[in-house]
Amino acid sequence: MDHFLYKGGVLHAEDVPVAEIAAQVGTPFYLYSTATLERHFKLLDEALCGMEHLVCYAMKAASNQAILKTLAALGAGMDVVSGGEYLRAKAAGVPGDKIVFSGVGKTEGEMRLALEGGVRQFNVESEPEMEVLSAVAVSMGLRAPITVRVNPDVDAKTHAKIATGKSENKFGIPIARARDVYAQAAALPGLEVIGIDVHIGSQLTDLEPFRQAYRKVAELTEILRADGHDIRRLDLGGGLGIPYTQSNEAPPLPTDYGAMISEELGHLGCEVEIEPGRLIAGNAGIMVSQVIYVKSGEGRDFLILDGAMNDLIRPAMYDAHHDIVPVVQPAPGTEQQPYDIVGPVCESGDTFAKQRMMPPLKAGDLVAFRGAGAYGAVMSSEYNTRALIPEVLVHQHQFAVIRARPTFDEMINRDTIPEWL
Ligand code: LLP
Repeated sequence: MDHFLYKGGVLHAEDVPVAEIAAQVGTPFYLYSTATLERHFKLLDEALCGMEHLVCYAMKAASNQAILKTLAALGAGMDVVSGGEYLRAKAAGVPGDKIVFSGVGKTEGEMRLALEGGVRQFNVESEPEMEVLSAVAVSMGLRAPITVRVNPDVDAKTHAKIATGKSENKFGIPIARARDVYAQAAALPGLEVIGIDVHIGSQLTDLEPFRQAYRKVAELTEILRADGHDIRRLDLGGGLGIPYTQSNEAPPLPTDYGAMISEELGHLGCEVEIEPGRLIAGNAGIMVSQVIYVKSGEGRDFLILDGAMNDLIRPAMYDAHHDIVPVVQPAPGTEQQPYDIVGPVCESGDTFAKQRMMPPLKAGDLVAFRGAGAYGAVMSSEYNTRALIPEVLVHQHQFAVIRARPTFDEMINRDTIPEWL
């Protein structure tokens, strides 16, 4: 459930008409709902209430500081995957002991940054990384708390580009090698082994792959404890999927996910962490765009929008479906017609949807892409020298621009010309 609803035939974000924001901010833009962000965080937090736990928002999904602050105020931790994300979380006021550092290629500089500023734990993904982290920590007179990310070789049954838990993926260490790797970690002077980490992929719409992975983690916990490791924290990753269409998808509910975690892992008495990104931010954001032209092609009509693949790349990159709805609701009984919905960027990949049934639209009409809150703004680029689009946050009847549209001067003046030109 989200807070983008039609009221009196006009799409609202909470209590604010979307068209009012469009008039002030200009299109295209991203629009987030505080109430939806909060609701999703609380659902997950409550789903784990039977266990000691921390929900660490995977801020890669949407990393604006206003979003981070909204979640941090509810007690959220953060899952970061780069020095930049770490600094952004700190800038939003998240304390170091609530920041988990994930990622397969942490550099020495990033490790140092996090050790200096404080970090809950590093989720380590390889033996060479362990050695570097240990050396960095020793050089600072510290011990770095770590989990090792294990790759459970489970098929997450999701899009190939976002599955991470099969043995052919670059992530984690093969679970079969875990005992050796933990022994190595325990022998390194700069590391303190505290737990196990697993993350098998994103947009999972079935609990079964999670269950298989967590069962393997439970077995591994017992084995590692028998080997003498003090396994007290389990980081279970993110990945719970969301409905991208209002009609036919029904991914598992957070309560069922929480119950399954407690069933598979509750007996171990570990503190549990999860790293949800999409589930918190996905349906808490829409992208609002305006029709520039309606163009009649050979046997099809194109809706040419002012938003493009550089603003929302998911359809081009993952063939992802986003519901696209008119901001002004059509009169009941209005007949729909098929459109190819495209952006102005100069490649055919800049297509959001083909033969999508929509009410008749004309130049100047506004449309909203639903489910665009996660992996939307953060994956945007300036391709075609198009400005990064603004982000706006709504809170009840108020709204604020939380990232302004840069001017073309700002963009162009970032280039520097070598002296020989
Ligand atoms: N933890 C780790 C280690 C991850 O790699 C990810 C996502 C998450 C947590 C959060 O997963 P979530 O709860 O959001 O599914 N750009 C793609 C999704 C990439 C996900 C990458 N890792 C998309 O637009 O679908």
